[in-house]
Amino acid sequence: MFFRQRSKQSNDTPQNQAKVIAFLNQKGGVGKTTMAFNTASALVKQGHKVLCLDMDPQGNLSQLLGVDVDETDGAQAYNLLINSIRELKALHSPVLFQDALVKGKIDLIPSGQLLSGFELSVAGISSPRQLILKRMLEKTGILSQYDYVVIDGPPTLGLLVVNILCACDGVMVPFRPDEFSRKGLGNFYEVLGQIEDMGVTKIPKVLAHIPNLVDLRRKQEGEDLARITHDLESEFGQGNVVEPFLNKAPLVKSQAQRKSVFEYQSKEFAPLQGQFDELANLISKNNSWNGLSEAR
Ligand SMILES: Nc1ncnc2c1ncn2[C@@H]1O[C@H](COP(=O)(O)OP(=O)(O)OP(=O)(O)O)[C@@H](O)[C@H]1O
Ligand SMILES: [Mg+2]
Repeated sequence: MFFRQRSKQSNDTPQNQAKVIAFLNQKGGVGKTTMAFNTASALVKQGHKVLCLDMDPQGNLSQLLGVDVDETDGAQAYNLLINSIRELKALHSPVLFQDALVKGKIDLIPSGQLLSGFELSVAGISSPRQLILKRMLEKTGILSQYDYVVIDGPPTLGLLVVNILCACDGVMVPFRPDEFSRKGLGNFYEVLGQIEDMGVTKIPKVLAHIPNLVDLRRKQEGEDLARITHDLESEFGQGNVVEPFLNKAPLVKSQAQRKSVFEYQSKEFAPLQGQFDELANLISKNNSWNGLSEAR
């Protein structure tokens, strides 16, 4: 029903290159930004050097990290993407990686409404439109400066998401356990399959599916989650669906204060800290990055 990943091994990713991890689901409000922010924070806590790359025109991850580019009109991901395309010289702006970079506990390349014009801006180019982000990451030298690049994706399945899929090594998929999600996930893996069929780049490993905003007191929700977990694990392997995140008030509180769960000492945050540590471990302790077809 979903998408079967191939198990072909390849070991040609240089060791000193950042691993690129994206939080994706075409459905809105499933926790992509929340998970990206707190997992990036967990990776930093583990001692890794992390760059957050906001690839959602809504700019929510940027806001959580204290930046609102639409207010400052600052340099952002869009500028770096467009500047990396030689044939779009007319649209270039004098923005280098260092200009767009916002340094902090977690470094950030922010995003804003400009990014919603990406698809239109690149519509007429002759170079491969799905590889713009991948090429940008390679050209700017970002990958050699970090251990992990954590990408927050938009709730769509358009060219931005195709670019993210072509540029990343691993995908984390937060989802709400209901029938709509089931269909949405099916579409998502169809797109991943199409990218694999194109054969222009490796496709990422699906590291985990993360049930989120789960209310196990509702019988139907428990049943839906069990069914979806069964389907996903039979295709992606046992344990690919991680422990569900319940609807947690502390998470709402921390987001409102633009803080990660690790910035609190009280014990109500301990279970969430443990869960995000687990997500970070899935990334940092993963030894089989290139488990998929490679045709670079
Ligand atoms: N486990 C949780 N418990 C309580 N609130 C949560 C939980 N996960 C996410 N939320 C809240 O749900 C809302 C949506 O989460 P988030 O913005 O991370 O989703 P998203 O998938 O990034 O949305 P979009 O598709 O619009 O980018 C936010 O207000 C967030 O604080
Ligand atoms: Mg989001």
